Amino acid sequence: MPRSILLVSILFTLFSPFTTAQQKSTDPEGHQWWQHAVFYELYPRSFADSNNNGIGDLNGITSKLDYLKGLGVDAIWITPCFPSPQVDFGYDVSDYENIDPMYGTLGDFDQMMGGAKQRDMRIILDFVMNHSSDQHKWFLDSKSSKTAQYRDWYVWRDGKGANQPPNNWLSTFGHAAWTFDPTTGQWYYHFFYAEQPDLNWRNPAVEKAMFDVTRWWYDRGVSGFRLDAVDTLFEDPGLKNNPVLPGTNQYGDPNMDSKYNTKLPEVHGVLQRLRKVADEHDAVLIGETWTKNIAELKNYYGAHGSQELQMPMDLMFMTVDKLSPPEFRQQIATVDSAGGWPVFVISNHDKPRSYNRYGDGRHNDQIAKLMAGLYLTLRGTPIMYYGEEIGMENNDPTRKEDVKDPIGKIGWPKDKGRDGERTPMQWNESENAGFSQATPWLPVPPSYKTHNVEAESKDPNSILNFYKSVLTLRHKEPALLEGEYVALNQNDSNVLSYLRRYKNEAVLVVLNMSSSPQKVSFNLKPQGFGGRKATTLVSTGAPTGEVNLSELSLEPFGVYMAKVSK
Ligand code: GLC
Repeated sequence: MPRSILLVSILFTLFSPFTTAQQKSTDPEGHQWWQHAVFYELYPRSFADSNNNGIGDLNGITSKLDYLKGLGVDAIWITPCFPSPQVDFGYDVSDYENIDPMYGTLGDFDQMMGGAKQRDMRIILDFVMNHSSDQHKWFLDSKSSKTAQYRDWYVWRDGKGANQPPNNWLSTFGHAAWTFDPTTGQWYYHFFYAEQPDLNWRNPAVEKAMFDVTRWWYDRGVSGFRLDAVDTLFEDPGLKNNPVLPGTNQYGDPNMDSKYNTKLPEVHGVLQRLRKVADEHDAVLIGETWTKNIAELKNYYGAHGSQELQMPMDLMFMTVDKLSPPEFRQQIATVDSAGGWPVFVISNHDKPRSYNRYGDGRHNDQIAKLMAGLYLTLRGTPIMYYGEEIGMENNDPTRKEDVKDPIGKIGWPKDKGRDGERTPMQWNESENAGFSQATPWLPVPPSYKTHNVEAESKDPNSILNFYKSVLTLRHKEPALLEGEYVALNQNDSNVLSYLRRYKNEAVLVVLNMSSSPQKVSFNLKPQGFGGRKATTLVSTGAPTGEVNLSELSLEPFGVYMAKVSK
């Protein structure tokens, strides 16, 4: 290369804004874009229906970008919108590099991406890594013969005898995790439905093809992935039987410790390599990680100096299913000390909505604000679930024949499935909550008349406006963005309080998790804040303006936030 060209290219490399992923989007303190972003999980079938066929679509999402921006969302995670027979509503992908016609086209995707970019928002996709659809061309080939090109891309084994699967492993969606295929006389493995055969991640060709999928979407502009079901990527190659536990589950199968088909150490190698690809694109990897303890969480961040997931979801936090300050305190402390950047989630498309899980039936709106006051102000990144900001509630089917989610069909009546938490977004009080002019694929609950975007936008005391004010604060208060988490009044079993401390200032968060009024007092001297005065930032009840921290009165389920400085 001539010297002058070499010099130009060195200079370009040194000073280009695109030099390395790290330089692109870190703030002066070294934070990455995803550490200050508010994420919003959106179920495309249920968000907005632009062509009025009862099913949401990408153009629907594009039409609501201004709403999301106005709410304070920085990154949208869209659950699978790829071609799929929809047995598991998109989590059974038959083509990883396209859009299901039901949701639109790649052109619509590009338009949505452009709209998001214009508004300085990012798009994250769902990467269903553990399995494909049984209609994917890889599986169709794999099942065609024992010597097929893609045979080893899935997990095939001989049975133990006539009609006997290779071992006792169970599908998490009920019954055996093996299905017999008469064409080749072998069984294939599926941790989820039989229509979701597990990919064989021990085959390097699978890894290469799947990593290339992420590259393909990065080139189209996506900023990262939520990695579906990563706990289940690998299985014990010796197929040891899982230990059987006492009792039966909701499907009538024996309880089992899934020791040999979940959380195998090999998953970490894959994630570390996938992270390298992500880093080349300034992208974030969010894990659907069902960690049971801090050691598991640490491993997902990357043990022994390795880099793995930037954001393994702390789903343990979501398993605190009651308003219990001691339990939340313990859970927050665990995640906060895990050495990575915490991620907080209170609802998703697999779990009944937080409005119902925490609500007491009388103060649900107030409790929805209380929960927002919690997970939006902790140190870490919150991932909202669509509709949480307006207090959407679960609308579970009441008759088996109405159930759409196969889990509900297999598990009825003990398990009614996940339809209830996937109902259409409630935009206004017109028919079908303004989601569609056609009958929606799932019915909206009657509460849409009061709990909808239009009505709540006009009501200063609505859940929606509460979310907006907390999210506004979150974007501008350095203490909420970057401050450390300091637990306060740790023996209080009714009120959860903490400080987010940053340099000479801090934000105090006080959450009354009880149904009775409470009085609390704070001495922040040990935290370096000698004065007793604080300035209210957000309050759902009485304390406003300048307050005295030696006696604060809180209404039932009251939320109070104040700024304190040195
Ligand atoms: C994850 C998804 C869930 C899906 C399953 C199988 O747990 O969140 O909705 O059914 O993986 O892909």
